[in-house]
Amino acid sequence: MLIGGEPGAGKSAALQLIVAHAALSLDCRLILVDGKRVELGMWRDCAERFIGPSIDEAIDTFKWLQREIDDRTDWLLSVGKRKITPDLDFPTYVVIVDEIGYFSATVGTPAAQKEFNALNRDIVARGRAPGILPVEATQRPSADIVPTSMRDLFGYRWAFRCSTEASSDTILGHGWADRGYSATTIDPQARGVGWLRAEDGIPRRIKAAYLTDQEIIYLANYAAQLRGRRHLHALDGGEVA
Ligand SMILES: Nc1ncnc2c1ncn2[C@@H]1O[C@H](COP(=O)(O)OP(=O)(O)OP(=O)(O)O)[C@@H](O)[C@H]1O
Ligand SMILES: [Mg+2]
Repeated sequence: MLIGGEPGAGKSAALQLIVAHAALSLDCRLILVDGKRVELGMWRDCAERFIGPSIDEAIDTFKWLQREIDDRTDWLLSVGKRKITPDLDFPTYVVIVDEIGYFSATVGTPAAQKEFNALNRDIVARGRAPGILPVEATQRPSADIVPTSMRDLFGYRWAFRCSTEASSDTILGHGWADRGYSATTIDPQARGVGWLRAEDGIPRRIKAAYLTDQEIIYLANYAAQLRGRRHLHALDGGEVA
């Protein structure tokens, strides 16, 4: 999923819902990448890896994900399957990036940014079938942060309020603003309202639910507990309750 919109539009609040769902889904592992740290930091005990502002760590983790994609793809090929399905017992990795632009165009050397972009693009392009699912947000929906060729690889796109029709189209896809689906029409006061486009469907206007800090802490503790329990049971060889 690709999420875009102007600062304060509601992207991080929406990401919390996706993280919460993934954290409570025990067949799913979380990789959290948040340069600001405070948005996703409360979930760090549920995550396999939590990356803060270090572009080197982000690159390292993305290389590791890339190898995971290679390994899974090799395996799929060897057994004659085309994608990971729930019965195969491979965990899904959900990779959440709050603010792609932070790593792709802000911190680090130009060479490191280039490397990050290439890895990210590869994960977005190849991750889906082997069960590596990127969910990425940006407050700068422009072609330098989200190249058109990369945007079109995301199955789901969610545009919160944007200041221009071009940036709205950068998220939803070419030509949607002209057809009446523009995130510029969202009231600036209507935080959390956006156009969500699923796969090749028509965008739908929705409002995200909002989790308070207390609710996030509660859910994150609960999910971490379930995960810890799963881990202990796995060590015992027992079943998860
Ligand atoms: N679904 C929602 N319902 C109600 N209020 C919301 C919702 N989403 C966001 N808000 C309000 O808008 C504020 C900004 O939202 P959020 O931090 O998600 O924006 P953002 O798009 O991530 O901004 P930035 O680009 O600066 O990171 C929140 O602190 C909250 O007060
Ligand atoms: Mg944010």
